[in-house]
Amino acid sequence: MPKNAILILGDVMTKDKKVLIVLLAIFFILCVAGAALYLTKDLFFSSTPIEKEKTASEILEEQGIILVSKENFTNEANSLLEKGYTADEINNIYEYMSDKNITSILENDYVDLKDFYQISNFDFAKIDRYKAYQALEGIEMKDVVTRVNLNLDEPFYQTIETIENPSAVTVLVNKSHALPSDYVPDDLVSIPSFPSLKIKDDAVEDFENLLVAAKLDNVYIIPYSTYRSYDYQKNLYNGYLKDDPLEVVDTYSARPGHSEHQTGLALDVRSSTHWSNLTDADYEWMLNNSYKYGFIVRYPKDNSTITGYKEEPWHLRYIGVEHATKVHELEITYDEYYDLYLTEH
Ligand code: DAL
Ligand code: ZN
Repeated sequence: MPKNAILILGDVMTKDKKVLIVLLAIFFILCVAGAALYLTKDLFFSSTPIEKEKTASEILEEQGIILVSKENFTNEANSLLEKGYTADEINNIYEYMSDKNITSILENDYVDLKDFYQISNFDFAKIDRYKAYQALEGIEMKDVVTRVNLNLDEPFYQTIETIENPSAVTVLVNKSHALPSDYVPDDLVSIPSFPSLKIKDDAVEDFENLLVAAKLDNVYIIPYSTYRSYDYQKNLYNGYLKDDPLEVVDTYSARPGHSEHQTGLALDVRSSTHWSNLTDADYEWMLNNSYKYGFIVRYPKDNSTITGYKEEPWHLRYIGVEHATKVHELEITYDEYYDLYLTEH
């Protein structure tokens, strides 16, 4: 073999060897890496993955509780579960109950609340009174709640709250809400067409408009008793007591501090043909139209168990057009309206 041929052959063999060595090295590295990966696989993958620890919220959700974005909700929900409330009950509590009621529910043992979720003026603190009153009266629970809230499960004048907002146009004055004896409205003004009579400034313009509208319908209205001071009402009430027993007087006259006349927002009105009352036709007009001017007939017929008074066609109360319209539409007394729509529960 020529020398050149040997050299070329040697060259070829050297190249192949190099390739072989490189391939072997790559193979070796892959084997080592594979082995290393196999040995440490559990660190990266797990054929039986360890479950991530569940959050308190997830545990509640799994039980069917709808999460509420409220600070401390998970603690509260767990506390309710411990008391024995079901997930459905807890969902209803957070959907329907006020924060004040939820606080009371959390402070007390389990109580079945199913009759009360839908009742917007429900007050947890009165739940035993509601149950007792319903057992006695057998009326719908929504009516029970309103009546008990108005203390109608007790004799009139038994529980008396002193009114904190006596000058509010919406103030509720009744047998369980008393005006301070020294309260005198600071904005009493004369009624322009009856200057000897005063009412609260807020009601004057609407009352004048009512008089004009009535006249256009041939209804002639004359106010005859408007603002009355505490002392005036005291003398009036005591005067009636000379003629009638207390139980009777209480059906037509308010005890001092309990008369709407002391607010300057009540007016007794008569027909021009009557000395202290409305004719049937004028009363009909009043029932159908006074709300347009912000007035309601405050003591309607068949409501003495709620208002505490016999029907008084002549006694108007100003509460503003918006509320008077709603009271008219709902056909409820102002006492009920006040508890349902103007009281926080
Ligand atoms: N007659 C009503 C009730 C009053 O005395 O205020
Ligand atoms: Zn009156």
